[in-house]
Amino acid sequence: MQYEMNRREFLGTGTAVGIAAAGLMSGQASAQDGKPVRVGVIGTGNRGSAHLRFLTLMSDVEVPAICDIRQEAVDAGSKIVTDSGRPAPETYTRDEYVYQEMVTRDDLDAVIIATPWNWHAPMAVDTMKAGKYAGVEVPAAMTVEECWALVNTSEETGVPCMMLENWSFRRDNLAVLNMIRQGLLGEIQHCHCSYSHDCRYWFYDPEGNPRWSGEYLDQRNCAQYPTHGEGPVLSWLDINCGDAYATLVAMATGSKGINTYFKEKYGADHPSATHEFKQGDIVTCLVRTHMGKTIVINNDLLLPRPYDNRWAVQGTQGIYNEQRNAVFIEGRSPQSHQWESFDPYQEEFDHVWWKDLEEAGRKSGHDGTDYLEVKMFLKAVREKTQTPIDVYDSATMSCVVPLSGESIAKGSMPVECPDFTRGKWKQRKPAFAVV
Ligand SMILES: NC(=O)c1ccc[n+]([C@@H]2O[C@H](COP(=O)([O-])OP(=O)(O)OC[C@H]3O[C@@H](n4cnc5c(N)ncnc54)[C@H](O)[C@@H]3O)[C@@H](O)[C@H]2O)c1
Repeated sequence: MQYEMNRREFLGTGTAVGIAAAGLMSGQASAQDGKPVRVGVIGTGNRGSAHLRFLTLMSDVEVPAICDIRQEAVDAGSKIVTDSGRPAPETYTRDEYVYQEMVTRDDLDAVIIATPWNWHAPMAVDTMKAGKYAGVEVPAAMTVEECWALVNTSEETGVPCMMLENWSFRRDNLAVLNMIRQGLLGEIQHCHCSYSHDCRYWFYDPEGNPRWSGEYLDQRNCAQYPTHGEGPVLSWLDINCGDAYATLVAMATGSKGINTYFKEKYGADHPSATHEFKQGDIVTCLVRTHMGKTIVINNDLLLPRPYDNRWAVQGTQGIYNEQRNAVFIEGRSPQSHQWESFDPYQEEFDHVWWKDLEEAGRKSGHDGTDYLEVKMFLKAVREKTQTPIDVYDSATMSCVVPLSGESIAKGSMPVECPDFTRGKWKQRKPAFAVV
């Protein structure tokens, strides 16, 4: 019901072209009436292989085609598919643009994109233009222009685009969303979130050469990877459906983490032990929304530390703190101004998506979170409805990458956040995880 309404709302936001004219209702893609959903994957490296494993856990999913410019990557991807008992997918490897041939196949309903960041927006745009749902890894775009290209293409074609932000689907985050929607925390005023993860192993290969991701650390100084923190916050604060990002300020520390990594791992003579990198170790962004809420988004990928997201959400009735696994709710918590465990709340406010999650899915990526994300993306594909994370949310979260860079470059001056909904956030109703 809710999804059907969202689809109508969504179609109303675009031109008259809509999903039907994009081919999704005319047989070009025909996932309906119990037929399997047919998914292609571009980029079958680390993350793309993980997606293939989630897809092949689902009995009603076919994988007719995969694409990667590295032969060993498509071979490994193919094996994941055939090991599941499915026919070998057709593979596309010729060059960096061969994916364009794959997305125009008439036997695909959706395409998952797990390539380096610079390819995300162009590939998602081409996928939507070919009439296929685009599921694109994080961040969905690198520049403000690319964010607009995603929004404009989705509106013009009527084809949804979902950034695959898995942390929006985490079990605790969805229980907190239920609590917020049932009013336990009162009116929400503030959120804190971070991606605190020593990712230096991901930016550099074992020989100390920058991977594609590491190249960016020498090109720009910004929140390189903000969306894992932002994902749940967007729904907690009704961003793009009752409120919207208005202004952002960002500040970066100096850069010492990469030098230290190289000095300790490869010796003081390694060029990267002394090279002056652009990227600061920790970037802290502060967003103010149009309705007067604030969000701290912390980007912390280059210093040694255990993993953390440090989510917190605070309202007029109470506060949730993920790091403490605790809540305090005035009038409900047993002791005045004292934390209590979140565990009973997790049980009471568990989201139905998690109650219904298949056992096989629970054993996969991040205890089932990633499986659930892909499952809900494909539910939208199958039912030809809006995706749980839509193109506006995808653009809003991704836009923190360029906006933080701009603010830092201007000496931490505030920068205006684009309104990708063009004012529709004032009327739009929350749809994420509404069942
Ligand atoms: N959501 C998550 O939890 C999560 C986790 C890890 C990575 N990611 C995201 O997944 C994406 C991929 O990261 P990764 O670690 O898997 O990188 P990776 O380098 O292992 O994989 C990327 C693959 O894309 C291929 N590729 C590059 N250009 C291509 C092109 N033009 N056409 C076809 N294939 C091309 C590469 O050959 C490579 O196999 C990134 O955007 C990253 O941010 C998300």
